[in-house]
Amino acid sequence: MLEKEKLPRVAYAMMNTVHEEEVELLQKLESALNQNPFKVMEVDQVLSELLAHTQEHFANEERLMQEVSFPAMMMHQGEHLRVLNEMKRIVSHWEQTRDPEVVREYFLETLTEWLMLHITTMDTVTAQFIAMHKGA
Ligand SMILES: [Fe+2]
Ligand SMILES: [Fe+2]
Repeated sequence: MLEKEKLPRVAYAMMNTVHEEEVELLQKLESALNQNPFKVMEVDQVLSELLAHTQEHFANEERLMQEVSFPAMMMHQGEHLRVLNEMKRIVSHWEQTRDPEVVREYFLETLTEWLMLHITTMDTVTAQFIAMHKGA
């Protein structure tokens, strides 16, 4: 499981805080998926928190990019949109099938790996640009 301490840090503090919150929610999801007896409602609850938080996470970065006219904003925003749509598809699959394995594989593997890569690449470059124009 992803730990907060292992998260790559970017140059704009507020973004790091949001990334840490996202990791906390992924950890919460892992506990909900591991509970015995299994409670569907708890997974539902964490998934909706995770979806709302991710939406805010991305919107916040997009607002910052707009404020400083970040040149690669469209590319970064496009990647956010792609992942958000993917996440929504997995959540609606979960609502239809209640299959925890698909949720586990997507959120704890695919999305977690994506998040690490995204922070190291697009978020890092974006944060440097924002910090340069706004101060960290
Ligand atoms: Fe981010
Ligand atoms: Fe991002």
